[in-house]
Amino acid sequence: MEDNRRIPVHVSIIMDGNGRWAEERGKERVYGHAAGVESVRACTEAAVETGVKYLSLFAFSEENWSRPEHEVHTLMELMVKAMGDELPTMMKNGVKFIVLGNRARLSASLNGMIDDCMSATAANDRLTLIVFLSYSGKWDMLQAAKRLAEECADHPERREELLSMDTVGFSRYLVTRDIPDPDLVIRTSGECRLSNYLLWQAAYSEFYFTDVLWPDFRKDEFRSALAEYAKRDRRYGKVK
Ligand code: IPE
Ligand code: IPE
Ligand code: MG
Repeated sequence: MEDNRRIPVHVSIIMDGNGRWAEERGKERVYGHAAGVESVRACTEAAVETGVKYLSLFAFSEENWSRPEHEVHTLMELMVKAMGDELPTMMKNGVKFIVLGNRARLSASLNGMIDDCMSATAANDRLTLIVFLSYSGKWDMLQAAKRLAEECADHPERREELLSMDTVGFSRYLVTRDIPDPDLVIRTSGECRLSNYLLWQAAYSEFYFTDVLWPDFRKDEFRSALAEYAKRDRRYGKVK
């Protein structure tokens, strides 16, 4: 492989455009969500093939709870089904599956399925697949600050140490504590915004926006995003 072929360690995708994809076909929005599951499978495979170590997917935001009940319900059912269907493939491909977000808002059946998939795949180490569910960046930072405040209150003897914490120390309180920050953040469907996604963690991510709607984003699109990433010059505020 050519020298300039730099592979990102962590690729994160804001999977957007399912509703428009369905509407373009005269179908209900939920039809687009079902079609989007195929793209998840394709991108997971492409990540394994290209040597990406972490693939994270924004599947449902805290704000998405405000959508019509029927759409929310169908989305949650789709997640349960997709986890069940994909577990054998994840085992075969060495995929470790993790869900991050405000799990207290998820149903008992969905949480049960998540726990089962997470424990079954815990020892896999080829690719870590993270699904952000009921997640928002502001929620993440707030829960981190609350836990830190609690720790200060419970351990007055550690107050000085905790208050002199740096940004690396604070990031240990975010739900992404064990995961490296995303190198590349992809958003489909032509929207150029973060929508309250990894606000802290994407501080130095490279962004790739494409007009392709999520159900049409397959292996070729994933590889194109990686090719674009390979051309980027990451400077982190320094002079070259
Ligand atoms: C992304 O597709 C999936 C979720 C946010 C759950 P959308 O449902 O947002 O599709 P559009 O943006 O309305 O087309
Ligand atoms: C962002 O998409 C959330 C997910 C992809 C899960 P939205 O469709 O909810 O974002 P907005 O409303 O267009 O910003
Ligand atoms: Mg959308």
